[in-house]
Amino acid sequence: MHTEVHHPLVQHKLSILRDISTGTKQFRELASEITLFLTYEALKNLDTEPCEVTTPIQTAQCRRLTNELVVIPILRAGIGMMDGVSTMVPNVRVGFIGLYRDPQTAAPVEYYAKMPDPKENTIALVVDPMLATGGSSAAAITMIKQRGYRKIIFICMVSCPEGITRLEGEHPDVPIYTASIDERLNERKYIVPGLGDAGDRLFGTK
Ligand code: PRP
Ligand code: URA
Repeated sequence: MHTEVHHPLVQHKLSILRDISTGTKQFRELASEITLFLTYEALKNLDTEPCEVTTPIQTAQCRRLTNELVVIPILRAGIGMMDGVSTMVPNVRVGFIGLYRDPQTAAPVEYYAKMPDPKENTIALVVDPMLATGGSSAAAITMIKQRGYRKIIFICMVSCPEGITRLEGEHPDVPIYTASIDERLNERKYIVPGLGDAGDRLFGTK
């Protein structure tokens, strides 16, 4: 299952994020803001349970979340989406998966993995700005499942049909939330029209 989030604010912010003239500071701010909206959408079907709260007036019958949430950014660029998730879910625990795409083959190369042990009710929110070939996200989710996680949601800012097909093929149980499904990949496996190299734009490395 995949969802393209069409909210006007998301689409407006994405248009500025894509722009070649948008600098590092604004790119980081927009990445956080877009993630906030995507997280809101991705969590809209979370379970809640009844609870009783004492207000200054009397007791109120309320509802609270039943699941524990863990955010797992795929390094490096996923770091740019961490703030957006933790603004929405302040006590979220954090894990990290380090992967980079081999420049020649675009295949993912693993270099780091550290994450909290999941509880029975834990949901992992895996975040990465780009879903291109799908190699990185599919490999990351395989690693996360090997650590015992059973419920996983993937959130990205820009995706393309090739990446969605691969990720859904390898992990059909993982819903995908994205701000855009772009046209295609180019010969270097970059998303067209995309936004360029998300890590470089976030961290000013080129
Ligand atoms: C980018 C991006 C994804 C990956 C997507 O990371 O952040 O992790 O490429 O491409 P894929 O779907 O074809 O695997 P990159 O490898 O450039 O590493 P970085 O985040 O460290 O810059
Ligand atoms: N990684 C990026 O940062 N951008 C792309 O378009 C594809 C992979």
